[in-house]
Amino acid sequence: MSFLDLVSKRQSDRAFDPHRQIEQEKLDRILQAAQLAPSACNAQPWHFIIVKDELLRHQVADATSTKMLGINHFTKQAPIHLIIVEEPANFSSRMGSFFKKKHFPHIDIGIVAEHICLAATDEGIGSCMIGWFDEKRIKKILNIPSSNNVVLDIVLGYSTQDLRPKKRKEIKELVSYDKY
Ligand SMILES: Cc1cc2nc3c(=O)[nH]c(=O)nc-3n(C[C@H](O)[C@H](O)[C@H](O)COP(=O)(O)O)c2cc1C
Repeated sequence: MSFLDLVSKRQSDRAFDPHRQIEQEKLDRILQAAQLAPSACNAQPWHFIIVKDELLRHQVADATSTKMLGINHFTKQAPIHLIIVEEPANFSSRMGSFFKKKHFPHIDIGIVAEHICLAATDEGIGSCMIGWFDEKRIKKILNIPSSNNVVLDIVLGYSTQDLRPKKRKEIKELVSYDKY
């Protein structure tokens, strides 16, 4: 599969086969792809919690959904929630963040998240990044120290959805050459 085929095949999957587990060797390769992601000053400011236990998974899923807005109910079907916890970055990255007024760990975590989703696609596994969740609740459920931020939950599972055409801005809207 070419890289463009791979990125075209990745989509946010919002329906999973709840009875089909992800094979450990596939998960291991996905985690290896995460391990290989770049980060500012190679700080690797992340920790991944693989939530597989049914009770914990359902509690985490509940913390991502909001009844009133009808958001993220599908997350209960996913056999894995991969929680990305932000870890303190190394000194160089923190200096960079301070002097350049950019929080590099959030950029790093965005990159590692896409490594994970693309690796999942490559394994035939569906994914969806979940940014809408009750962080306090997730920290409590998973014993995450209050000083660490939970940045993303990535749900993983065998998708039951067909590939949708992508809705994207035209390249000419996104790109300019030489000047803004
Ligand atoms: C940081 C981030 C947070 C997201 N949070 C959610 C979410 O809470 N629930 C959801 O259903 N999709 C979420 N998404 C998925 C986006 O809605 C999706 O990527 C976008 O609509 C493009 O569609 P595609 O991923 O199918 O190409 C999130 C994506 C990103 C990158």
